[in-house]
Amino acid sequence: MLIGQHLLRLDRVESTNTVAADLASDPANDGLVVWAEEQTAGRGRMGRSWHSPPGCGVLLSVLVFPPEPLRRPVLMTALAAVAVCDTIRDCARLESAIKWPNDVLVEGRKVCGILVEQGRGTVIGIGLNVNTPADGFAAAQLDFAGSLAMFTGTPLDRENVVCRLLDHLDHDYSEIRAGRVADLESRWRAYSALLGRHVALLANEGTFRGRLAEMSFESIVLQESERGLCAWPPEAVVALSAS
Ligand code: BTN
Repeated sequence: MLIGQHLLRLDRVESTNTVAADLASDPANDGLVVWAEEQTAGRGRMGRSWHSPPGCGVLLSVLVFPPEPLRRPVLMTALAAVAVCDTIRDCARLESAIKWPNDVLVEGRKVCGILVEQGRGTVIGIGLNVNTPADGFAAAQLDFAGSLAMFTGTPLDRENVVCRLLDHLDHDYSEIRAGRVADLESRWRAYSALLGRHVALLANEGTFRGRLAEMSFESIVLQESERGLCAWPPEAVVALSAS
């Protein structure tokens, strides 16, 4: 076991991603998990912040030192997103879906956000809303957010959620480190649930529409009505959604 072998449990931090990044100077911290009850400056993608009332969610960051070919945000984000979906299935018996690139939704509501940051090591930050009450989101004006307990109707044991999540992360990370990426890729594709559907793809050059013909860690391919098959490297895709 690598991921979760060492766990740093803290009450209140600015951001678990910052704590993990500060510990990246020591390679002995490979696999370290930083888990906090509360963040005072939790970060999201594109400069956004992440709000979670203390003691309601799972706020954690995993520090790893992947070999160069695996140091790709798309891969590390997929690793986390698939582990979260598997965990939601195991612990809450709920179906979930990955919304490109870093959100996990249950019944259209965002229950989890993932923030991968790379410096000396790779930090995979996961914010999963587990027991947050619905009015906790309304107060923070997060109208499209949700928590697992909102769907199960009963609170979940967060320790159990973290154990399952770390087990899935550790298993899949050891598989991809051994060069076996195909299984993760096909589960990521299945949880994304967009293959064959008509989608809108937002890239830096604009928005493109067409049928999603292929989705892999190497390329996202659209069948456009006028231009035919067009491919983008995943790193160039800002958003991808059913249209
Ligand atoms: C997003 O939705 O844009 C990503 C949100 C990621 C939030 C998690 S909470 C744990 C970790 N620490 C942070 O500061 N951010 C991530």
